[in-house]
Amino acid sequence: MNKQEASLQSYRELFPILSEKIHLGNCSQSPQARPVMAAMQEYIDNWRFVGMDWDFWMEGVHRAKASFAKLIHADVSEIAVVGSVSDATSMIASAFPLNLEDDGLNGSGRRQGVPRSERRHVVTTVDEFPTVGHVWHAHANRGHLDVDFVSAPDRVYTPSVFEPYMTKQTGLVSVHHVGYYNGSKQDLNALADFAHQHGALLFVDAYQSMGTSVIDVRRTPVDMLVSGNLKYLLGLPGIAFLYVRKSVAEQLQPAMTGWFARKNPFYFDATHMDYGDSAQRFNTGTPPVLAAFAARGGMDMILQVGLERISARIDELSAHAIAGVNLRGLELASPDDVSRKGANTAIRVPDSHDLEVFLMQRNIIASARGDVIRLAPHFFSTEVDLDKALDAILEWKQTRGPID
Ligand SMILES: Cc1ncc(COP(=O)(O)O)c(C=O)c1O
Repeated sequence: MNKQEASLQSYRELFPILSEKIHLGNCSQSPQARPVMAAMQEYIDNWRFVGMDWDFWMEGVHRAKASFAKLIHADVSEIAVVGSVSDATSMIASAFPLNLEDDGLNGSGRRQGVPRSERRHVVTTVDEFPTVGHVWHAHANRGHLDVDFVSAPDRVYTPSVFEPYMTKQTGLVSVHHVGYYNGSKQDLNALADFAHQHGALLFVDAYQSMGTSVIDVRRTPVDMLVSGNLKYLLGLPGIAFLYVRKSVAEQLQPAMTGWFARKNPFYFDATHMDYGDSAQRFNTGTPPVLAAFAARGGMDMILQVGLERISARIDELSAHAIAGVNLRGLELASPDDVSRKGANTAIRVPDSHDLEVFLMQRNIIASARGDVIRLAPHFFSTEVDLDKALDAILEWKQTRGPID
């Protein structure tokens, strides 16, 4: 066993379920890891033995924010704790019209002659996770903003796809990094530059890429970015982290808010409102403390393994999955170029739910979405895991698949 294999094996031992099941469902829920359980136990023990300890809670939430900040090379003050991607999108929508006094883009934006305060137009894609579109629609229905949905036949959203929809009123481009359906990956550098050239901001849903892709907000000037922790970040539902670039955050006034968005939540004065510095104004109520402990446990594992290393390993596994799909005559629904996809390799099948159940009966966890089954490995996955899953899919197709 060479050094790389030895260290991979040692990571696998941190996930008890891997001795029983092949877990390729990381695009939906990652397996339980021992360090995540240990982090949750810290909270449970404190509750049991100390009884009430808000300082400990706040420190735990701060450490989780710091881990998220480290993953994307942001400052911890630029991270807010929210409950979900839906919450984060709703908060941003509630800050419309954007009302920016300057371009807030570190000098890279251009005003195009229209004040931001009049910019009520959002451009997004039909391939966002549905919750994002739902929020934009809801606010459009209330007259807060106008929204356009763009579509790209291959689900690759280059600036040229957005270009025809950009108007002088466009304030925000809302796009995913990696698509939930087939894992197609967008070029955030190109999209950030494009949005800024139009004087708009870029909001990114990075739920399907965080934990497997390198994102550095110092080099890739996205303005806002959100991810939950359930998937490749190895955590629990109930928490998500929203990055808002400091220069942008301090000019926004989200109406979806709460006491943790204040300068000092513990000031206890119901007769006034003020917003905290930087992204703190995007907090709401009491944070999901237990989920924050779990989130920190998962994110610190990712930081320890190293995102550069994970991303390289994901590319190897993607190449193996694509070759395996082609070898078995299955229908690939993901891009066939590993540089244009995330961890998820999607295969088009007649009845994805039936296949998911069939695989589960064989101790293989994969995730069905519409007409595809998704195989989503992580750094601890192996080529053998993928081969076994692909063989089982072929077996299902040869027996049950054609019935449809
Ligand atoms: C890209 C993406 N965004 C958002 C979500 C979910 O959003 P929320 O945190 O609001 O449940 C998912 C999947 O669950 C997703 O894959």
